[in-house]
Amino acid sequence: MTETHVEAQSVYPPAPEFAANANATEALYEQAEADRLAFWAEQANRLAWDTPFTDVLDWSDAPFAKWFVGGKLNVAYNCVDRHVEAGNGDRVAIHWVGEPVDDARSITYAELKDEVCRAANTLADLGLRSGDRVAIYMPMVPEAIIAMLACARLGAMHSVVFAGFSASALKARIEDAQAKLVITSDGQYRRGAAVSLKEGVDEAIAGLGDDSPVEHVLVVRRTGIDTPWTDGRDKWWDETVPNASTEHTPEAFDSEHPLFLLYTSGTTGKPKGIMHTSGGYLTQSSYTHHNVFDIKPETDVYWCTADIGWVTGHTYIVYGPLSNGVTQVVYEGTPASPNEHRHFEIIEKYGVSIYYTAPTLVRTFMKWGRQIPAEHDLSSLRLLGSVGEPINPEAWRWYRMAFGADKTPIVDTWWQTETGAIMISPLPGVTECKPGSAMRPLPGISAKIVDDDGNELAPQPDHGEHVTGYLVLDKPWPSMLRGIWGDDERFKETYWSRFAEQGWYFAGDGARYGTDGEIWVLGRIDDVMNISGHRISTAEVESALVGHSGVAEAAVVGATDEHTGQAICAFVILKSSAHGGEKNMVDELRAEVAREISPIAKPREIHVVPELPKTRSGKIMRRLLRDVAEGRELGDTSTLVDPSVFEAIRASK
Ligand code: PRX
Repeated sequence: MTETHVEAQSVYPPAPEFAANANATEALYEQAEADRLAFWAEQANRLAWDTPFTDVLDWSDAPFAKWFVGGKLNVAYNCVDRHVEAGNGDRVAIHWVGEPVDDARSITYAELKDEVCRAANTLADLGLRSGDRVAIYMPMVPEAIIAMLACARLGAMHSVVFAGFSASALKARIEDAQAKLVITSDGQYRRGAAVSLKEGVDEAIAGLGDDSPVEHVLVVRRTGIDTPWTDGRDKWWDETVPNASTEHTPEAFDSEHPLFLLYTSGTTGKPKGIMHTSGGYLTQSSYTHHNVFDIKPETDVYWCTADIGWVTGHTYIVYGPLSNGVTQVVYEGTPASPNEHRHFEIIEKYGVSIYYTAPTLVRTFMKWGRQIPAEHDLSSLRLLGSVGEPINPEAWRWYRMAFGADKTPIVDTWWQTETGAIMISPLPGVTECKPGSAMRPLPGISAKIVDDDGNELAPQPDHGEHVTGYLVLDKPWPSMLRGIWGDDERFKETYWSRFAEQGWYFAGDGARYGTDGEIWVLGRIDDVMNISGHRISTAEVESALVGHSGVAEAAVVGATDEHTGQAICAFVILKSSAHGGEKNMVDELRAEVAREISPIAKPREIHVVPELPKTRSGKIMRRLLRDVAEGRELGDTSTLVDPSVFEAIRASK
């Protein structure tokens, strides 16, 4: 693989004042290097264990890891109670900001403890036991976080489903996990309007028919809109939780007790239930949050703009920040609601000091213009973060300039749903950053960039043609996924078969080393697309398209897009019955994808074509479709059955 890439020249060292007070110094790398497992044991001991662990790692059943063997802890206790016991009950845990202006609520750690205990008691009353699964389908309201912590407290697994997903996507996830309980809200605010969520839950459960595993639906009253109701099954949160006791004794669970499932797109149409467990996940979440974001719980106000429906919301809104006892902002709405000033007003009002967002949003802010942040006092900001996709150097520099007065460090954090927590990132008081590079693996983490045969690539000069290698993780890490729910074979096949001989985890990303050995992650090299940081598989969209009665065949590729990183481009062959109304069909198909998956999966372009380019073995040649979608010269077409199909495909554009 080769590509041409112009790397930014400038290097940004940490400011001396920042470095002088930073949580992490160069010594952290040295410590981890000297004894990796002892290093992780030390990080684990930042948490409160009910029973200490006897071994750090058991890798004898690879790729199924056990971390902190024999240890027992309660994750919710670690995130809430222990801060109250340490005398910090009056500290604000969550400054919650609703989408409607002036709708806000601040919750201290003591209040959060009461709420989590009440919710845990309510869930137990509804019959929930350790090991059961709970689907959470909610907007960004405090109850969503309380519900996750209540599950953790009881040892039940939550499966948070992004509230932008369709009823059909929710149904598949409830079914796969066999969730007994669904926690949702009557509705949610979307750019000022209240829209129903509960209707989607009802539709999902109805779709499961007599086989539905769902015993109860617990409904938070958020918008007050009319809500369909099934007596006996459905319960209002505000009629049950507030009546429950604030006393709840947390049970200590094994370090490997499952904590949650989070479904993510893979290379097939069926989403994978990524499974995370307790001790290792919380250790790395807490450690990375403390060091990468340089958290000072007494003074910082931290804000991660992700949604709890994604892994970033799990690790860097719920488990990382709360385990570290920090004060954070949680915002319900979109950045443009009611206008483009919203994020900057929130930063100003709450004195946000650490801000963690996605490159796609930075590019949106860029489009809106410098004058918007310039109208606000953003001097409280001292650290910025980026996650979800490669950040282009131009956006990186703009972010630092417009948000950080060209002074704040930026941590570009590479990780995945599967890795559970940050793996590759600068340490803000140590690393000299190159805009666009996630730099190097964190202390305790090991990653390599290798060629097809597993040979490590060499550093490459800034300019000219670059060789892209595979990004692999060559040593187990505490917050690694423990499997795919109900499918051990798929787990081994997806992540561990590419470099089975070496025993490495293949991340699905392409990457290269820069001049100083720093890592440049270049994006997915499998059939997973990254749209505004949302992970969507080509197969999922193809399966939604061919689900439409008018479509005979579909092929989907991700094409580079200036604003969203990648955009979805679909090529479809219509059945003869559907010919004639191509324009209507394209609109209908876009709506079908939104219905089946989510509006975020709507293709940017749908091309009706007479044929798809295939190899002799019948495989669709996506590489060539990508060339077409991105308007490039076609690559090698020699393996095509019929190279002339491209004239027709080009004509459709
Ligand atoms: O391709 C990488 C990209 O996002 C993928 C993981 O997506 P997901 O599991 O949804 O988790 C997103 C939030 C952690 C990766 O395989 N990615 C994530 N962060 C970066 C990135 N690509 C480049 N640079 C990053 N900082």
